[in-house]
Amino acid sequence: MATTTTLPMTKTSLRSATDLGYKTFTAGKFRFERDEYFAHIHFPGGRHIIAVDAFLRSLMRDVAWGFFYGTVNFDNVFGTVNHYGTVEMFAGLFNKGYKDANRHYVEKFQSTDLKATFEAMLIDWTNEGFDPFAAPEETGRPFGPKKGSNEKAVQRQRVVAQRMVGLKGDSPYRSDASGYPVNRQFTDVPQDEPEIHAEPGFETEVHAFNLYGYLSRSDVTWNPSVCSGVKDSLMCPTTEEYILPIIHGNDRVEWFIQATDEIVWDVDDKNTGAPMAKVTMRAGDVAAMPANIRHRGYSPKRSMLLVWENNDGRLPSMYANQELKPYPVEF
Ligand SMILES: [Fe+2]
Repeated sequence: MATTTTLPMTKTSLRSATDLGYKTFTAGKFRFERDEYFAHIHFPGGRHIIAVDAFLRSLMRDVAWGFFYGTVNFDNVFGTVNHYGTVEMFAGLFNKGYKDANRHYVEKFQSTDLKATFEAMLIDWTNEGFDPFAAPEETGRPFGPKKGSNEKAVQRQRVVAQRMVGLKGDSPYRSDASGYPVNRQFTDVPQDEPEIHAEPGFETEVHAFNLYGYLSRSDVTWNPSVCSGVKDSLMCPTTEEYILPIIHGNDRVEWFIQATDEIVWDVDDKNTGAPMAKVTMRAGDVAAMPANIRHRGYSPKRSMLLVWENNDGRLPSMYANQELKPYPVEF
């Protein structure tokens, strides 16, 4: 007869999430815990670990962007896929090892429900002095036991201009007075504004502003914000410094115009993560990021990038069904 011996559970010397003052969060069958250094993600059939600074920076983008376009990979295992109303949360879905071994796990949520859970987690897990939207050089550290909070920073809304920044009733300009001083790395950016001479009757139709001056006053990094829109054509400029926290999996073509300085991009296969290309973009360079890739950027110095998005809701299925080629032009 076989006998089994049950060993007493060893009391771990590590302090649990609760001892450290952090809440544990669940969404469906996913469970999230944080300790002093890491976010721990448990899901049916597996667990995953992400450095908490990287996790909070990714979580901040996913929340502020409303799950963005396509896939937001926090790393090569965990992330979300936006289905515009619903959202899938996954472990291993776009990872060849997990997929080949059938160890991936996916669960679908109402976007508003998952966003609320993510927002609560972001608020609880972000300590005083740490701003997950800021460049590492401009913020404190996220580690250790729970210490205060930084609700103002984590509740920032992404700018979404209806027509154009600065128009009457639309997103306002940034200024010293409104709390947006020129960033330390953009002190050489001219702050003069263009003169607008509209024909009588067209005063609310003709508009221009100094986009470089506006971006030089951005207090966040890697946050493409809608600064002008014409139907589905959205101009989403952003300032970048250090590393794009997420690895963005496109569900449509995205155009990049590097406005200043330099960003180096890693471009990988969207589904497997296999490396495909390394793209170095210097001021003036233009690139179209295909619809079948994921990408992560590295910006050694704070730089300005114009991301041009096509907001047409039909595009993801047209690319998925291969009605459209994944790239916009053939040479
Ligand atoms: Fe992208």
